[in-house]
Amino acid sequence: MNIIELKKINKFFGQKSNRVHVLKDIELSVEKGDFVAIIGQSGSGKSTLMNIIGCLDVPTSGSYKINGVEVGKMEKDQLAELRCRTFGFIFQRYNLLTSLKADENAALPAIYSGLNAADRQKRAVELLNKLGLANKLNNKPSELSGGQQQRVSIARALMNGGEIILADEPTGALDSKSGEMVMEIIKDLHKQGHTIILVTHDKSIAAQASRIIEIKDGQIVADTRKSSEIYELKDKVENIQRSRIDAIKYSFLESLRMSIHAILANKMRSLLTMLGIIIGIASVVSVVALGNASQAKIMEQISSMGTNTIDIMPGTGFGDMRSGKVKTLKVRDSDYLAQQGFIVSSSPSVSASGTLVFENYSLTAQLTGVGDAFFEVKGKDIAQGRTFTEEEVSRIASVVVVDDNTRKEIFSDVPDPVGKIIMFNKKPLRVIGITEPENNTGPRADSMHLWTPYTTAMYKINGSNDINSITVRVSDAVNSQVAEESIENILTALHGKKDFFMINSDSIKQTIENTTNTMKLLIASIAVISLIVGGIGVMNIMLVSVTERTKEIGIRMAIGAKQRDILQQFLIEAVLICIAGGFMGVTLSMLIGLGFNTFSTNFGMDFSTTSIVLALVCSTSIGIIFGYMPAKNASNLNPIDALASE
Ligand SMILES: Nc1ncnc2c1ncn2[C@@H]1O[C@H](COP(=O)(O)OP(=O)(O)OP(=O)(O)O)[C@@H](O)[C@H]1O
Ligand SMILES: [Mg+2]
Repeated sequence: MNIIELKKINKFFGQKSNRVHVLKDIELSVEKGDFVAIIGQSGSGKSTLMNIIGCLDVPTSGSYKINGVEVGKMEKDQLAELRCRTFGFIFQRYNLLTSLKADENAALPAIYSGLNAADRQKRAVELLNKLGLANKLNNKPSELSGGQQQRVSIARALMNGGEIILADEPTGALDSKSGEMVMEIIKDLHKQGHTIILVTHDKSIAAQASRIIEIKDGQIVADTRKSSEIYELKDKVENIQRSRIDAIKYSFLESLRMSIHAILANKMRSLLTMLGIIIGIASVVSVVALGNASQAKIMEQISSMGTNTIDIMPGTGFGDMRSGKVKTLKVRDSDYLAQQGFIVSSSPSVSASGTLVFENYSLTAQLTGVGDAFFEVKGKDIAQGRTFTEEEVSRIASVVVVDDNTRKEIFSDVPDPVGKIIMFNKKPLRVIGITEPENNTGPRADSMHLWTPYTTAMYKINGSNDINSITVRVSDAVNSQVAEESIENILTALHGKKDFFMINSDSIKQTIENTTNTMKLLIASIAVISLIVGGIGVMNIMLVSVTERTKEIGIRMAIGAKQRDILQQFLIEAVLICIAGGFMGVTLSMLIGLGFNTFSTNFGMDFSTTSIVLALVCSTSIGIIFGYMPAKNASNLNPIDALASE
């Protein structure tokens, strides 16, 4: 039965005037189990014919059938499958992968056919042992002699069965003794049932085959049969499992291993390539962390103003020089506002400065008279005691709530200050509560605060009914902007003119949120640009990598790698570079954060897991996006062209 059938095969190379007709109407059938030698002068077209038979190249015209199946109609992946499982190549120059050891080189085709690592290794060792390389398993090609390398390549050809062995000048680069040894092995393979096609220009080597075909100027000029020994193929590899899923899995693992190897082999280059990604990711993560921290800080300070509160002050604005002297706000304004449906509470605020005396402490302090709702509105929690009641406000009770700073300042030796009497401007005030310490930072972090009912501050301490400001809490259901307008209308009507201004905690919050969001957008766009630049760097280096490794791609394709396998290998490499860059970027940013946090006491960097995960996802995507084009280029290479490159 004919395993190979060529009919009217023609092959041209080149275009137009450079067009050469290398194979002319080749008609050739090869029986299963035969040993055929193709002989001819240099340039006669032997290798071209061999490459067409081995599905590394395609004929310009004609029909080629393997086991009765037309090859011309096959997809690229099916051709790869044929190269992987049916053919075993032995090249004149061995074509081993220089970075792999002898056993790994021999085992390579089984990765693409889906054999598991243990069986792969077992079979590779078996084959190498049979070929007399038992003690050279761990040697790389550069540590082997030519004859030994050729034997490794024979082991590789047999790895997936090698039903048809294609040997193109297998002894061409060897001394006569090694050459004889290789020929003995090939003859032995014939006896084991492999179909052998051997190309040579040496008549004495051709003489060892069963059938000799002579080729001259692209035409078969002689076909002589010397013997017709046909053997049954013993080493059937059908019994080695052939799962598609496994092939994908092992090819993926192989790609991963090779990528790591390639990256580590060019450490400096990989690092420089990563630099763009590292800087991009580090700046994004750091800036987001800084932004988060500062925004949290600002928000914290704003929320200490209270939620949904509006402060009403006399004068025309903060810049108003007279505002300290303007006394246009009255308690009745506050009372009137408190009656409005959209206002939950309204409390006047009165400041008084004076001397605070307790036992042998005497110091200047600021006291604020507020309404009973003040503590709730401002979100101030009480650590000890209580706040004052509405009843105490109306009866002008001499009570005071102090903050933690005051407690530290004057009650440091007093275990329970609640109930103690302090003197403010010679007026006695009984301490009824102490607020929780505030985690405020900033220039006024340790200033002292004391609060009395505003009535007490006005009538007992200041001796006047002037108030400094009014704080209203707007109902949550009401838009604070609308509330602000209503208050403005009410007070303007009451006063006859607008002699006050308002600070709305919500609008401040909003303004800050808007600004930080704009900032974030700006930074994000800078980050995107830096990451694109980094990505282009990765793409560039991947294109270089593909060019450098074209030969390797050719070898892998010759032994059965599909386009997908090659694409995957380079894509993984690009992604790995980017992920490594991403990790380094995050680490760098963490280090910056560490330095920052040690030097700056009141302000930290806030690394969120989301931003780190996002950064890594981002760097992975860059690897995929920018690695795809070079990887696609690599996978689209023509096996024979890739193999021919140096
Ligand atoms: N890719 C190519 N482009 C153009 N011409 C080519 C190409 N490959 C081979 N040829 C030409 O085809 C002819 C046959 O080449 P081939 O390699 O098949 O010869 P060969 O018989 O194997 O010779 P040798 O014994 O030296 O290996 C040569 O004239 C060569 O120049
Ligand atoms: Mg040749």
